[in-house]
Amino acid sequence: MATPPLLEVRGLCAGYGDSQVLWDVSLAVPRGSVVALVGANGAGKSTLLKTVSGLIKPRSGEIVFDGRSIAGMAPQQIVAAGLSHVPEGRGLFTRMTVLENLQLGAYPAQVRARMNESLAHIFELFPRLAERRDQRAGLMSGGEQQMLAIGRAVMACPSLLILDEPSMGLGPLIVEEVFRFIRRLHDSGVTILLVEQNIQSALRLADHAFVLKTGRVVMQGSGAELLANDEIRKAYIGSLG
Ligand SMILES: Nc1ncnc2c1ncn2[C@@H]1O[C@H](COP(=O)(O)OP(=O)(O)OP(=O)(O)O)[C@@H](O)[C@H]1O
Ligand SMILES: [Mg+2]
Repeated sequence: MATPPLLEVRGLCAGYGDSQVLWDVSLAVPRGSVVALVGANGAGKSTLLKTVSGLIKPRSGEIVFDGRSIAGMAPQQIVAAGLSHVPEGRGLFTRMTVLENLQLGAYPAQVRARMNESLAHIFELFPRLAERRDQRAGLMSGGEQQMLAIGRAVMACPSLLILDEPSMGLGPLIVEEVFRFIRRLHDSGVTILLVEQNIQSALRLADHAFVLKTGRVVMQGSGAELLANDEIRKAYIGSLG
């Protein structure tokens, strides 16, 4: 029997006030995979991630994570269940140090006891955070801040890490470094759901990808399939391809 996916979203509808953004969205994230979610600005990618992590209440549909229905659960309960979200814009406490930001990520009671172990793990994956542990987060470079935001989410010992546009605002070299960091996290056993404007890098990394257009899933396939797809190349990669 096939193992059930770590995350399964079925028929999800959600939005803000009177405006519905997501329409009957279904997708699955297999355990151990990297899944990418791509689409144009305003397609609803961040709204989908926020609904999955409990920041927005779904109007209808199912969200099953690790065998439990999490639709409508509070964000902190969802983090405690093993799903961490690195939001668009990172959400760091810029006047606090690197170490303090990381410690704040370890708030679910059951991971607090393992805090030192988690810190050692993150410092090993990204030594620059160890070197800068006493520096204020706001004084670090954009790339370092992104690594810190990811590191803070990893402090909650997630089985699924969802990342919203981790390469946003970063130069090409540092983007490569962020992607290497994500790959190392994946190699260490974390399942990844990734939203990226950098569609080529995302599709190269992803085992499977979903394309969202005006709040609906319009296409899905392996990363390689979508990279080779003419429609995708024209619509999202264009002259960069
Ligand atoms: N807080 C909000 N209140 C009302 N409408 C919102 C809010 N946040 C987003 N929207 C609207 O929801 C739609 C989807 O936005 P969303 O941020 O999910 O898109 P996205 O795919 O993440 O886009 P981007 O690539 O620009 O990050 C857009 O029309 C946007 O204007
Ligand atoms: Mg977004």
